[in-house]
Amino acid sequence: MINKTYKVEQIKERKVKKYYIKTFGCQMNVYDSQRVAAILEQLGFSAAASLPQADIVIFNTCHIREKAAEKVFSDLGRLNLIKEERAAQGKDTIIGLIGCVVQAEDEQIAKRAPFVDFALGPLTYHRLPEVLAKISRRKGTTIIDTEFPVESKFDFLPANHSHSGCSYLAIQEGCNNFCTYCVVPYTRGVETSRPVEDVIQEAKRLVDEGSVELNLLGQNVNSYHGEDSSGKERNLAYLLRRLNDIEGLKRIRYTTSYPADVNDDLIACHHDLPKLMPYLHLPIQSGSDSILKAMNRRHTSGQYLEIIAKLREANPNLGFSSDFIVGFPGETDKDFQATLDVVNQVKYIQAFSFKYSRRAGTPAALMPNQVEEKIKKERLEILQKLLFSYQLKFNKESIGKVMPVLFENKGRHKGQLIGRTPYMQNLHAELGKEYMNKIVNIKITEATTNSLSGIKEGE
Ligand code: SAH
Ligand code: SF4
Ligand code: F3S
Repeated sequence: MINKTYKVEQIKERKVKKYYIKTFGCQMNVYDSQRVAAILEQLGFSAAASLPQADIVIFNTCHIREKAAEKVFSDLGRLNLIKEERAAQGKDTIIGLIGCVVQAEDEQIAKRAPFVDFALGPLTYHRLPEVLAKISRRKGTTIIDTEFPVESKFDFLPANHSHSGCSYLAIQEGCNNFCTYCVVPYTRGVETSRPVEDVIQEAKRLVDEGSVELNLLGQNVNSYHGEDSSGKERNLAYLLRRLNDIEGLKRIRYTTSYPADVNDDLIACHHDLPKLMPYLHLPIQSGSDSILKAMNRRHTSGQYLEIIAKLREANPNLGFSSDFIVGFPGETDKDFQATLDVVNQVKYIQAFSFKYSRRAGTPAALMPNQVEEKIKKERLEILQKLLFSYQLKFNKESIGKVMPVLFENKGRHKGQLIGRTPYMQNLHAELGKEYMNKIVNIKITEATTNSLSGIKEGE
């Protein structure tokens, strides 16, 4: 691991002291924001309690659907007003834009938001110190860096810290799958995996600092192929087995997996590893084979169901979740029915479903037979109703059971904590803050579609 000494004096000259990072999008962005915060803290900044108090505001952005990307630009407009208000009080504000919107729309930024001081694509965050130093010399222009560098940012970023009982840990980045609707291969680049020992070292540090759960992240996490210390490529199953041996670590999760890359070795982990949680996010997107083909997914619905069956054989207690897209170009009622059929077979315990969003530069955006908005809306409503019914059923069946819950947040009321069950269900319970970041056995007493409540076992 290479460590760099940053030029702190150059930053101090600007009297910039507080930072605020607003994160949009996926868990990888949450993780990246934590690492960017670690850079800023190393440079002497501290977290601002609210956005208007910050001397540097960074938006970490998402480009996955049109709505997500447009929200960034409307929020940026509001941010500029705050920058102007602060300027009237004699306070300087640096505005930074990072994440997938930057990678995809680098040419648009200077036009649509010229007040942005710097913009960095997802693979260049380690260059932030140099960029901040440059800003003082190049006032009034936007510094943009959207290179896919040869070096790995992970080799240069300062160590991140455990923020709660559960920490994210990025082990893989980028995607080679090129699903025809998706921007990720263009925004995050080709698949790269972090070396095994780097991951183990980060995991041990996070556990030493109080994390009892690790959620391994990657755009296509189960295609992990990091090198071990002898230079041999190792897969996700190997990594999970190594992590399972870390003392003090209680729970392991990984997300997001690509169905065609689930191999027998990984399936065996769900039988063998007690720390691996009985919940797996395995997106199918559509139940129709012709739509899956048009999406360039490397699996049929039959193959997907076979993988689910094998996983259930390895661990009969496994619960599944998925992502779905409705209204992909050319999707007929029959195709949509095939998606509902898969839902009825798998009985997902949670799911994320979206209307297809046309993304410039992706092959599906140019496909004929784009589906009308009205039909997309109708299909999404039907699908979500079905998904929620299974989610509610699963949650209701939890009533009366005792589950180990990891508490991570304060509840709305005093004396209440919110945590997650092994199945990623949200649960709230009346508990003192001494139970924060701890795993507590909770007897489930009530359930709705989105959350459970319960009491500490024995009380
Ligand atoms: N790497 C992950 C997640 C990618 S983005 C995976 O492959 O599963 C998360 C989800 O957003 C995808 O699974 C997909 O369901 C959805 N998504 C991606 N592009 C989309 C688009 N153009 N329109 C609607 N939903 C999209
Ligand atoms: Fe996008 Fe497909 Fe890669 Fe997931 S697997 S990130 S949906 S291209
Ligand atoms: Fe969004 Fe980029 Fe994640 S597009 S979903 S922030 S990988």
